[in-house]
Amino acid sequence: ISHRLTYFPCIYLIIFILCDTLFFKLPEQIQKQELGRDEPRPLYMDFQTGPLLWPYCFRNDPRVLDAMLPYQVNFYGNPHSRTHAYGWESESAMEKARKQVADLIGADPREIVFTSGATESNNMAVKGVVRFYGQKKRHVITTQTEHKCVLDSCRVLESEGFSVTYLPVQSNGLIDLELLDKSIRPDTSLVSIMTINNEIGVKQPIRDIGHLCRSRGVFFHTDGAQAVGKIPLNVTELNIDLMSISAHKIYGPKGVGALFVRRRPRVRLEPLQSGGGQERGLRSGTVPTPLAVGLGAACSIAQAEMVYDHQRVSALAQRLMHKITSQIPDVILNGDPDQRYPGCVNLSFAYVEGESLLMALKDVALSSGSACTSASLEPSYVLRAIGADEDLAHSSIRYFYYYCDYYALKCTVQSVRRWILASLLVPLWEMVQEGIDIKSIKWTQH
Ligand SMILES: Cc1ncc(COP(=O)(O)O)c(C=O)c1O
Repeated sequence: ISHRLTYFPCIYLIIFILCDTLFFKLPEQIQKQELGRDEPRPLYMDFQTGPLLWPYCFRNDPRVLDAMLPYQVNFYGNPHSRTHAYGWESESAMEKARKQVADLIGADPREIVFTSGATESNNMAVKGVVRFYGQKKRHVITTQTEHKCVLDSCRVLESEGFSVTYLPVQSNGLIDLELLDKSIRPDTSLVSIMTINNEIGVKQPIRDIGHLCRSRGVFFHTDGAQAVGKIPLNVTELNIDLMSISAHKIYGPKGVGALFVRRRPRVRLEPLQSGGGQERGLRSGTVPTPLAVGLGAACSIAQAEMVYDHQRVSALAQRLMHKITSQIPDVILNGDPDQRYPGCVNLSFAYVEGESLLMALKDVALSSGSACTSASLEPSYVLRAIGADEDLAHSSIRYFYYYCDYYALKCTVQSVRRWILASLLVPLWEMVQEGIDIKSIKWTQH
């Protein structure tokens, strides 16, 4: 008996160790395997396209993940089930999250509709309002520098017979309020202008736009994906009627967002999808409780830490600009130098081809435009809209460093500087040396 008692636990222990080694992988191993290499990962300076979430990177706020996990594992009821406790506990978590989102923007929780992200919110707002008021009010105004999802929604509306004005912006990226005023027609139903531009970081005069729209009896929608949680925004004070929100821009999970829809004066919109009538009939489909909880937690944290975060990001911006302009020649800041969110800096480097620069920078993850358009070698439409010369538009890089420290910033500058100084020896620079006017170059898509 004594022999068996010592023998069996040993066997179990050996089996356990074998299984653990064979079947369970450490997160680090998973990362390496998925990336297919053993090297350290590049510094992530592209937070505008969204911070990374577990399991890839803990740079996403772990507090958000902590809030979400119980709703992935223990509380799995459908928040729309009214007949049992499983549904009630999920519903109560969803309503808490709705309040957290509402509190961040000074809204009533009943004015928050959960969506899959800002793309859906923008589609819902632009198409929904214009289609609802369509018969009498067939005109919508937006700007040439909006996110693709707003511009493409407007194109769809045009194909349905609605009329759209795409306002140009000034060379600093800001709209001309007088021009907006003149563009409003008796049949205008909606003005859609983003708060902070995702490529050049400029901040539109939202207060003035809201005031103008309210005084002219036109609804005002703003794409707040890059602004909510980063700068103070109160929808009542700013006369905003609809606002799009995305969780993954503020350390929340990807795949969830919200649309603020004002109740008084009431905004009506035609829903995009038909179904069970969830979200006050505006957005049918089951609300994913863990994601909504993640969005709520991210909003709460952003609200509590906004002042500190803004100061930190402003200090980083100053340092980045100083380091880059003092070490690299002919650098141009795209967009207004003052009316901007400091966490997004878009720079053009004369004589350097932006895409090659980004590809050569193995140790820093940056982008040359918005994530959705950066696959194209065409210069960014935002840079074109502000009148950037084509050669400079081709040599632009966007830094976005909402969640980074001085050390990461220093490494980025060193890396960019090293490569730029090396690349000054290659084509564009050589052409300038040979006296060729590079503005006369015809750029084509490869
Ligand atoms: C200004 C702006 N609007 C909308 C979106 C789309 O957001 P989501 O990824 O949540 O659909 C983005 C994301 O890149 C953005 O920057």
